[in-house]
Amino acid sequence: MSHATQHYDFSNADAAYGELTRDLTALLSGERDLIANAANTAALIYDALPGLNWAGFYLYKSGELVLGPFQGKPACVRIAMGKGVCGTAASRRETVVVEDVHAFPGHIACDSASNSEIVIPLILGSELLGVLDLDSPKHARFGEADARGLEAVAKIFLQSLG
Ligand code: SME
Repeated sequence: MSHATQHYDFSNADAAYGELTRDLTALLSGERDLIANAANTAALIYDALPGLNWAGFYLYKSGELVLGPFQGKPACVRIAMGKGVCGTAASRRETVVVEDVHAFPGHIACDSASNSEIVIPLILGSELLGVLDLDSPKHARFGEADARGLEAVAKIFLQSLG
């Protein structure tokens, strides 16, 4: 298949996420490697979604979150469960959408350009695998359609691991 990224029109977010999840399914098909599929998922998201400054994974290892494949500036390596937006989403096992990270208690500022954030927990069976984290320099960049769309993206990524 061609890996050239197409243009997604996020003026209709549900339709754009529909195309993105179809393309992600094709991109990951036939491969089960965690790092390879996480890397390609981060790259596709970062290239496809407008207004991001970071997209990637933290993986749950020995009781904490450890930086995984991502696109964007270098980031904090280890995040304790319950800390920051990532650790909160991981311990609650719920998607967390933050309109203004500066107002979020315990937010971990990796890139001072970030103003809003969404974190989707990754649950494989009943095990926490990690989180998918997206940051934006725009205030309130992420809404309900992004939560739905990125939860669908996370599901395809998890299914690809077999
Ligand atoms: N801001 C995140 C830390 C990870 S970086 O944004 C990549 C947090 O509070 O969990």
